[in-house]
Amino acid sequence: MTTSRFPSRVRIVEVGPRDGLQNEKQVVPADVKVELIRRLADAGLQTIEATSFVSPKWVPQMGDNTEVLTRVLAQPAPGVDYPVLTPNLKGFEAALAAGAKEVAVFGAASESFSQKNINCSIAESLTRFRPVTEAARAAGVKVRGYISCVVGCPYEGAVPPHKVAEVAATLLEMGCYEISLGDTIGTGNPASVRRMLEAVAKVVPVQQLAGHYHDTYGMAAANVAASLELGVAVFDASVGGLGGCPYAAGASGNVATEDLVWLLHGMGIATGIDLDRLVDTAAWISAQLGREPASRVARAVLAKRAQAACAN
Ligand code: HMG
Ligand code: MG
Repeated sequence: MTTSRFPSRVRIVEVGPRDGLQNEKQVVPADVKVELIRRLADAGLQTIEATSFVSPKWVPQMGDNTEVLTRVLAQPAPGVDYPVLTPNLKGFEAALAAGAKEVAVFGAASESFSQKNINCSIAESLTRFRPVTEAARAAGVKVRGYISCVVGCPYEGAVPPHKVAEVAATLLEMGCYEISLGDTIGTGNPASVRRMLEAVAKVVPVQQLAGHYHDTYGMAAANVAASLELGVAVFDASVGGLGGCPYAAGASGNVATEDLVWLLHGMGIATGIDLDRLVDTAAWISAQLGREPASRVARAVLAKRAQAACAN
């Protein structure tokens, strides 16, 4: 197989500091978050989701959002964007006050998940997002739109592709520049992800779609490969495979950034990311959290390095 049918370059949106750390049992200190974001930029990541402006009662792990974003934006790496999640106008205003230049609204294709995650129906959520997108446009802030449960829901099971397409079309019409499609619980496979993408691509240009695949059942890389075949060229990933979702029991992290980079570089697809530095970062944040990196690629690279060190 040649690589000619795949995009020649992929943009990776690093979500570890948000999607990863929001799910840690311990609240990770702001110093560690800021240092993680700095190391990710050093490794070549150009979009790093820094935090979320959600209720600290719901997600205490992100309660230091203003401190983290303010500190990161005080010394931004050149050419790097630091988007943040904003579920409503209150979150948007706090993010804007902290200097955010890009935000993301996040809805779902499943009613039950929408209720559990953001305490409202899908229709209510879209009504809440509209003033956020309007305020963002007035302030010159870019807005990304997330949809959770694009193939499976922890409460409702399989999610029909047309539900995803409906929400995606509304987010696009509101002004979201990109729609990130979340396989929140990682139950997708290349066939179901393909069916979902084909439905969504009828209403949103594929250039404006991103894959956000959690790796709970080890299918994330396969789902990325299926998405590449359809022309998707933006993927969300989490260094060290950190994360999960606080409102989806058992969900594990996103595809590990280093697994994704390994896959893409192996296929001849450029990312601009230095894999060695990324693995160092995966090892560093995992050590901060008191564990080994979860990703296969980080473990393989670190084992190879240890072997080479012994041989010398
Ligand atoms: P609510 O309780 O319905 O909100 O929460 P409310 O408007 O009724 O307000 C209740 C209280 O919350 C009030 O405070 C508000 O001021 C406060 P009180 O008067 O009781 O002291 N409040 C806020 N505080 C700080 N920041 C805010 C904010 N809004 C209200 N922005 C809300 C609704 C959406 C806020 C809540 O449900 C929430 O914060 N949910 C967070 C859910 C979350 O962060 N989930 C994880 C991220 S999504 C995800 O991981 C999926 C994704 O990765 C894609 C995928 O994998 O599928 C993106
Ligand atoms: Mg997620």
